[in-house]
Amino acid sequence: MLNSTLELIERRRSTRAYDPAPLTAGERETILHAALRAPTAGGMVLYTIVEVEEQALKDRLAVTCDDQPFIATAPWVLVFVADYRKWLDLFEASGCFELEGVTPRKAPGPGDLLLACSDALIAAQTAVIAAESLGIGSCYIGDVLENGEVHAELLGLPPYTLPIAMVCFGRPLKPQEPIPHFGEHLVHRNRYRRLEASELAEVATDLERLHAPHGLPPGVTSYPQAVYRRKFTSAYMDEMNRSVAWWLERWQDG
Ligand SMILES: Cc1cc2nc3c(=O)[nH]c(=O)nc-3n(C[C@H](O)[C@H](O)[C@H](O)COP(=O)(O)O)c2cc1C
Repeated sequence: MLNSTLELIERRRSTRAYDPAPLTAGERETILHAALRAPTAGGMVLYTIVEVEEQALKDRLAVTCDDQPFIATAPWVLVFVADYRKWLDLFEASGCFELEGVTPRKAPGPGDLLLACSDALIAAQTAVIAAESLGIGSCYIGDVLENGEVHAELLGLPPYTLPIAMVCFGRPLKPQEPIPHFGEHLVHRNRYRRLEASELAEVATDLERLHAPHGLPPGVTSYPQAVYRRKFTSAYMDEMNRSVAWWLERWQDG
């Protein structure tokens, strides 16, 4: 049974080829308004959205985010930043660190970071769905987590901020066919349970059927091997892991 919201979710695809026409001010406002309607931890809105307007900045991000030229062609690019900086500034400006009977805490911890990332990502996905409802496609760019030192500088991100996701928006150049997503063994009852050998074999076969219907790349004999080669042991994952360690250290040390 599909209502219009479910239909929208069903037909969404990541969009990487855009009509160059800019989004209207009304469309941008509507998408941002929807993002701000997303639930946030403690109602604290632990994120900030950086709107990338300058073409030169988009061009640079297209290179620093693992060389993905389509980023430079996206009419609208938003970076969703997990943000405790603004709360620390608010705490300081409001005399919180001098409050009687409270041991001052001047730096966020890993729990604060994960809540801020949750807030930012929930807002991002709400923006994605809102855009889709206006006929505007989108694509996440996880590679904004790479090159931490460069992105902190380019986007002016101070300590206690972290760009957890970037999203490109634009009208799709051509209609996209939704691809099926694989959901077998996604839900476990009451307790997590590792898959047994026979179930792992089933998953591998189903993934191959869905994602490699025309055959596997050379040098591998199963879909997990293809993913292991192309993603898990790739140069971009090495860089992302290096860079995220840098972001985490910065979050810890300020
Ligand atoms: C956290 C995250 C990071 C992603 N990063 C990229 C990216 O850097 N480049 C890209 O082309 N697609 C990226 N994607 C899009 C995925 O490749 C895409 O969602 C997935 O292949 C499923 O396809 P669909 O969105 O069309 O259903 C990302 C998606 C997510 C959720």
